Amino acid sequence: METKYKIKLDASKNLPLYMQIAEHIKSLITSGEIKPGEKLLPIRKLAAELDVNPITVVNAYKYLEEQELASSRVGSGTYVTYRKSPTEAQTTASNRSNLLLEIEYNEYNLIDRGQIRIKPGIINFASASPSPELFPVKEFKNVLNEVLERDKGFAFSYQESQGYYPLRESIAEYIHTYNIKSSPEEIQIISGAQQGIDIITKVLIKPGDCIFIENPSYAGAISAFTSRGAKLVQIPINPDGIDLNYMEIKLKEQRPKFVYIMPCFQNPTGYLYSPSTRKGILELAEKYDFLIIEDDHLSDLSFSYEKVYPLKSDDKNNRVVYIKSFSKIFMPGLRIAFLIAHPDMYNDLIEAKHSSDISTSGFLQRAFDLYLRKGIMPSHIESTKRIYKERYDTMLQSLKQYLPEEIKFVPPAGGLNFWICLPEGYNSDNLYVECLKKDILFVPGSFFNPSQTPVPCFRLSFAATNKQEIEKGIESLAKTIEIFLKEYSDLKTPLPTYIPFL
Ligand SMILES: Cc1ncc(COP(=O)(O)O)c(C=O)c1O
Repeated sequence: METKYKIKLDASKNLPLYMQIAEHIKSLITSGEIKPGEKLLPIRKLAAELDVNPITVVNAYKYLEEQELASSRVGSGTYVTYRKSPTEAQTTASNRSNLLLEIEYNEYNLIDRGQIRIKPGIINFASASPSPELFPVKEFKNVLNEVLERDKGFAFSYQESQGYYPLRESIAEYIHTYNIKSSPEEIQIISGAQQGIDIITKVLIKPGDCIFIENPSYAGAISAFTSRGAKLVQIPINPDGIDLNYMEIKLKEQRPKFVYIMPCFQNPTGYLYSPSTRKGILELAEKYDFLIIEDDHLSDLSFSYEKVYPLKSDDKNNRVVYIKSFSKIFMPGLRIAFLIAHPDMYNDLIEAKHSSDISTSGFLQRAFDLYLRKGIMPSHIESTKRIYKERYDTMLQSLKQYLPEEIKFVPPAGGLNFWICLPEGYNSDNLYVECLKKDILFVPGSFFNPSQTPVPCFRLSFAATNKQEIEKGIESLAKTIEIFLKEYSDLKTPLPTYIPFL
């Protein structure tokens, strides 16, 4: 690398990495070390030299552009444009820097924390959260009012940490339709499945303990596990579920404290475990004596089969800790979910829940209880499913119509996500950057592995988009991919691929 670009990055600094890079290059430009008209180092080259994600360098260059120090030319690179007197340039820059910092940070970097601020006009295939027009607001307003009338101030007193007993009763009843037998004593109410993952980890994991996860896996779980110091072993997932042969090889090397899986429409791949994989993982759990944490956020959204049942419904020996989220089929902001654990775990779980938030909102638990007791949940799920199915069909049809032949995917049997794979060697982080320029947003595959290693695959969700957006967005995505495959063909590098079957 040209020595002038050598930058000592410090991740512990308050300043984001892209700003550290931008500030350094800015000083080179304003001091005249990089001349007007000179081309800045190509994004991927600088990213490789500095060992950062290319998106970080994109952000740095965009920052320089906004400061009128450089400008990008399509297909060519970024060039220094700075010609004003230094004082003039700096005034413009400092006036804007705070605002820019926020915009840039939100647009690109917040994806690292599972959040992205969406600017108007963007087609959002990144979010797997339902759009608010699907929420049963009127019905929920009625139950909220009824609870206030009925319970008055009691609705706002402290609640048992295990959860409001009548809600645990109505959940035990409700979950029968998933072929799961349970009792109120076995149910722990949690403030969202994310909290469930976190408190289970708090109870079971000490720093250095091993957890097996699917590869790729849900980023929120990965961050909960790593924040407790767990060592993660990644087991590839195939279209029929986790790779049991590979898993057994790993089990012979080390025993995990638990295996975290999403057997029904896995996040991000959308894959559904086959009956033999379900049977096989339960047998391995017996043979090698480990717990399975089943995260069920989408089993309700089966489009190809009449009904799909959680793995917990096959669990005869209490090997499965079942976490159920209502965020995708009801309202994510309600922050109510539940878990069914092994009886030995309850005391520790209640303690962990108590130290986390004492209890889930008693008022909302009472309202949700009433909602379930009114028996309207199944019809709400049915109507939500109908709308999602239309979006699913539109996305499937558009992908088949527009995507170039070399792009592979296995249509999922349900859920909200498609897992799309570029040919081997291409990096979906780079495509993410190109698509953002066209106002198309998706989640690159690097987001779903602990080391954020770039991969060819990426996740497209249709939860937050309508039919028109899907058609327009997939057509534009496909065009962008076509150009991308040509422009980036000389930049291919061996990248891990998750899908041995493709
Ligand atoms: C697989 C998976 N588990 C858990 C969650 C978090 O769910 P909740 O909103 O219930 O905390 C999500 C959210 O996207 C998810 O995708």
